[in-house]
Amino acid sequence: MSRDRDDSRGRPGWAAEAAARSQLREVEPLPTILLDGVSKVYRDPMTLKPFTAVDGVSLSLEPGEIFGLLGPNGAGKTSTIKMILGLTRPTRGTIRLEGRDPQDPTARRRLGYLPENPCFYDHLTAEEYLGLVGSLFSIEPRTVRRRAEALLERLGLRVHGRKALRRFSKGMTQRLGLCQALLNEPAVLVLDEPMSGLDPIGRADVKHILREERARGATILMTSHVLAETEPLCDRVAILHRGRVLEMGSVKAILESDVLEWEITTDALPDQRMSLLREAGHRVDSVGSRWVVRVLDAGALQGILRTLTEERVFIRSVEPRRESLEEYFVRVLEADGVGTASGRESGGRS
Ligand SMILES: Nc1ncnc2c1ncn2[C@@H]1O[C@H](COP(=O)(O)OP(=O)(O)OP(=O)(O)O)[C@@H](O)[C@H]1O
Ligand SMILES: [Mg+2]
Repeated sequence: MSRDRDDSRGRPGWAAEAAARSQLREVEPLPTILLDGVSKVYRDPMTLKPFTAVDGVSLSLEPGEIFGLLGPNGAGKTSTIKMILGLTRPTRGTIRLEGRDPQDPTARRRLGYLPENPCFYDHLTAEEYLGLVGSLFSIEPRTVRRRAEALLERLGLRVHGRKALRRFSKGMTQRLGLCQALLNEPAVLVLDEPMSGLDPIGRADVKHILREERARGATILMTSHVLAETEPLCDRVAILHRGRVLEMGSVKAILESDVLEWEITTDALPDQRMSLLREAGHRVDSVGSRWVVRVLDAGALQGILRTLTEERVFIRSVEPRRESLEEYFVRVLEADGVGTASGRESGGRS
């Protein structure tokens, strides 16, 4: 039973505990989402054979961060999210939402959720649907109307507010999914593939909205396969594979990894120099009207720059290239035995 329910108020023990808890919050805020050794084992309904979809996951999300749960198809992301929401129970381990059990309805009041494939009552209009969601959260109808109007505007659905949902496209349904997730001004937002089905403008809108929500103080847990969009958005990520966390860390630290290569861009490149560079093992590509020379080590870079300058080649830029989140993701998974199609075609990567 929740200790914060009204029926326990007035008891000396409760007051002392609440005071202790609020002092604790001042010193160190509670993690908004906490998973400790969480596993989920599904059983085949016919054979009862067990299958471990989530295997000992421990995570702790701090207030006000955007956390990306990344992983290939079938890694266990949605299974983890369903347990965080209290839709299914962990087979092992503990989950806390702002210190509460996710099965406790009070834990879910401050939660916003966008499911992986949102699917709504399609005879309703967008406005009616948001009205229904508002009533489920017991929000005053006037407040619901005000918030719904603002959210429909923010997600580019204002002109579609009175359209039946069966006439919504995939991207419009996804946008409405975000409206309903934000309607209760949640403290914790859980978004399963928020970029799915959205056009580039929609994806930019979502990034903007999620940053606004973080600035408002919300904590966001999201999954995504669109890592180029995730990279500038997430503060931290965890990479999940076969239900286990392989790596977890700050995106900034991943992007500040060692330089992979240097890219020299030139306007023109004499044929002879191009051949010599290629013979020395450097990659040289023509990109539009320019040339890009890729150099793997900083020592060789100095020599090449000196030679190009002596040969009066105009150097436009010299840029270090570091590992992207997507490259990091592929590297971590390959190290765990996942083969990519390009790796398979070339007989495996070295
Ligand atoms: N209700 C269920 N019963 C049995 N197995 C399930 C159930 N739900 C998921 N699984 C299995 O658990 C594994 C993880 O599935 P999950 O949906 O969590 O993956 P995911 O990481 O969200 O994948 P995707 O990127 O494709 O959405 C998969 O092998 C899936 O087949
Ligand atoms: Mg999923």
